[in-house]
Amino acid sequence: RKPLTLADFARMKAEGEKIASLTCYDASFAALEDRAGVDLVLVGDSLGNVIQGASTTVGVSLDDMVYHSRITAAGLERAFLMTDLPFLTYATPDAALAASHRLMAEGQAKMVKIEGGAEIAETVSHLTTYGVPVCAHMGLRPQLVHKLGGFKVQGRDDAAADAMVRDARLLEEAGADMLLLECVPSTLAARITAAASVPVIGIGAGPDTDGQILVIYDILGLSPGRKPRFVKNFMADADCLDTATADYVAAVKDRSYPAPEHGFK
Ligand code: KIV
Ligand code: NA
Repeated sequence: RKPLTLADFARMKAEGEKIASLTCYDASFAALEDRAGVDLVLVGDSLGNVIQGASTTVGVSLDDMVYHSRITAAGLERAFLMTDLPFLTYATPDAALAASHRLMAEGQAKMVKIEGGAEIAETVSHLTTYGVPVCAHMGLRPQLVHKLGGFKVQGRDDAAADAMVRDARLLEEAGADMLLLECVPSTLAARITAAASVPVIGIGAGPDTDGQILVIYDILGLSPGRKPRFVKNFMADADCLDTATADYVAAVKDRSYPAPEHGFK
């Protein structure tokens, strides 16, 4: 099984094949996801929540990300590995470059993800200059929890929507290889995806992005409490983890996930 590359994601976007993505934090789940046909694996800083039991991602360190990236990489054969730069490790372009070096050299990530819009364009450009593949995470940005005092759907009014469309274009011009949209209205996500020449992955962004991502524990029914509306528990109709994960991949590919009720107006 040949490892996927960014060129495969470009081809999938061009051909309208949906990109199936999940978060992952260790080698056993990585092997499970790889077997199930997950295309893009993200070592997310959501590990602060689901691995470390914290209520936010703010406390996740670069060492944590390097460690989980490395042990996730160990379980992968085909899937492409992307790893988050955690809070305040990319506040300057040079800091971002040094942190990305660790994620790629020690953590074996093939792409890094950073949260932001126009204000991270300079950093994206710097990483691009030195050959670091970058995904820009727009819309709802969990690392800003204490600044925002909570989370809500982003880009709901016309001005905010237009700004996000402009930011997406700026980030692409700066060299971003991929965009990720979290919790934005489905119509806005469709607009950004149609305009972008790089693949756009969505979470709570409706059916029209080039791919979908969810937290692995959410699709396996392992997350307690109230779930965001875009979450679907694939263990509900499966008898084992392999089936549930493969069902998620199949649902993304055949466009049965996300359904209209998983998106925001
Ligand atoms: O950290 C994470 O899990 C993420 C995804 C939810 C997009 O950034
Ligand atoms: Na994240």
